[in-house]
This record gives sequence, C-alpha cells and structure tokens, in this order.
Amino acid sequence: MPTVYYQDEEIECEEGDVLRDVLKKAGLSVYNGKAEQLNCRGSGSCGTCAVQVDGEVSEPARKEKARLWLPPHHPSHDVRLACQTRVEGDVEVTKGDGIWGQHI
Ligand code: FES
Repeated sequence: MPTVYYQDEEIECEEGDVLRDVLKKAGLSVYNGKAEQLNCRGSGSCGTCAVQVDGEVSEPARKEKARLWLPPHHPSHDVRLACQTRVEGDVEVTKGDGIWGQHI
C-alpha cells in the first residue's frame, strides 16, 4: 500500500488512486489561496493543483502535458497536476508558492 508524504502527514492509499483525491480525503489541500474555491474540480484545465512529486507516479497523459505547457507553468518546472496524477508507490509531495503553486 503506497504512502503519500505531504505537509508532515503520511497518508496511505491504494495504488492507482488520484493524488488530489488522496490528499482531499485526508483533509489536505493542494491549492493556494483563492484557488481553493476557484479550481476546475479536477478536470485538468486550471493548473492550480500543480505540485512537485518525488516517487512513483503515473506518466503524464496528453491533457496534463498540454496544460503544463501553458503559463505560468512550463515543462521545465518539473511539476505535476495532482488531479491527473495517479499514485503508484511511495511519493513525497511538495506544494510551491503562488496561486498555481508555480514557485517551487
Ligand atoms: S484541479 Fe484544475 S488542473 Fe487540477
């Protein structure tokens, strides 16, 4: 059973669970500021759930890659959209500053 490490918490989940859902279920948020209310609810379009991940996760699909090409994100920023990322093993998650979490 994979463990997600985020904000000094350790959350166990099932392999294949969506990262955003895992954190939400644990009462944790991947959003900064007003993005908590103004997000796309996991459709992969707003980009505000971006986080840095270190561990075993799914490869980004086309939709996620496309969103991460749009500002303020850029593929070189090395972030993932939590709503499009599936947990495949233990993973450490870090949220950057800024409304999109773009400042890692
Ligand atoms: S919640 Fe909008 S892209 Fe993830």
